[in-house]
Amino acid sequence: MKALVLAGGAGTRLRPLTHTSAKQLVPVANKPVLFYGLEAIKDAGITDVGLIVGDTAAEIQTAVGDGSAFGIHTTYIRQDAPLGLAHAVLVARDFLGDDDFVMYLGDNFIVGGINDLVEEFSAHRPHAQIMLTEVSDARSFGVAELDAAGQVIGLEEKPKQPKSNLALVGVYMFTPAIHEAVRNLKPSWRGELEITEAIQWLIDNGKQVRSTTITGYWKDTGNVSDMLEVNRLVLETVEPHVLGTVEADCELIGRVVVEAGAQVSGSRIVGPAIIGAGTKVISSYIGPFTAIAQECMVDDSEIEYSIVLRGASIRGVGRIEASIIGHYAEVTPAPRVPRAYRLVLGDHSKVQISS
Ligand code: TTP
Repeated sequence: MKALVLAGGAGTRLRPLTHTSAKQLVPVANKPVLFYGLEAIKDAGITDVGLIVGDTAAEIQTAVGDGSAFGIHTTYIRQDAPLGLAHAVLVARDFLGDDDFVMYLGDNFIVGGINDLVEEFSAHRPHAQIMLTEVSDARSFGVAELDAAGQVIGLEEKPKQPKSNLALVGVYMFTPAIHEAVRNLKPSWRGELEITEAIQWLIDNGKQVRSTTITGYWKDTGNVSDMLEVNRLVLETVEPHVLGTVEADCELIGRVVVEAGAQVSGSRIVGPAIIGAGTKVISSYIGPFTAIAQECMVDDSEIEYSIVLRGASIRGVGRIEASIIGHYAEVTPAPRVPRAYRLVLGDHSKVQISS
């Protein structure tokens, strides 16, 4: 069995972060979200992994390499434009050959891994097996309709009136039957080849599509609030440890990780929180659910429930909350209360200014 991991895409919902970097590499508790997926795949015993890559190919390739760090072997498959999840299957045709495979969306986060799904699929070997989870409002998801026996009888992409509260999780199991289905698709109204339509094609053509409903946690980390929420969840499980230097004038409360080479002085850190390798925290307050990546600087500032990416610096600012600060970003106070704001903002930036 092989795995096809989707690490291309446009990432419009995470702009401006994704203008310059891959959304699958945004860190959750200081580890790229994609790595959790690769670990789950390896854990399910799958080592032959194809990665679909787009404009951010170089960055993904640098991060994942030949896969040996994960105990897997990687093949990179270029998708020239993000033309849909089913399009990714189409371009991976040669890599997939006639093998069964698991398709995993590289920005999805699933607690509990995929072992049960892979085992169930292998035991029954339907033409396809999808993973479902109950959601309160299914209108923004792919939604499945099941019959009384639990067999999938229909799928809809982001329906206005969902026929169930069962949303598709971003992990799918396929036999080679899917290749004929994707070849028969036409682009949807949004110009993409939809995997939900490919699975619907299987159903319409008398193929067996089973489902597994998971009870564990799942999130598509496509937007900022979901990203922060997943970060919170993972931080709650980290084992506290201090490898860096923490001066005696500091207070560390709860689950706090201070990585090697990090320096903390005159500060209070209330966990769960993680301070990355080589980062300096000086005269600051780091509040719960905060992950600060490597080589950052937090000086005379307060931050909580946030993700700070590599090399960012935050100096002399009051409380920052529910924020994602990009690589090498600089946050500093205005010299005095401004009569006007001076802004240099990238396209699609979002800024909240108190009036
Ligand atoms: P989506 O989140 O559905 O799409 P997107 O990355 O274009 O993001 P947005 O909606 O914010 O614009 O994609 C799910 C995963 O699949 C994600 O990891 C990107 C990847 N993907 C591809 O590799 N190729 C594609 O053609 C598409 C649509 C997505």
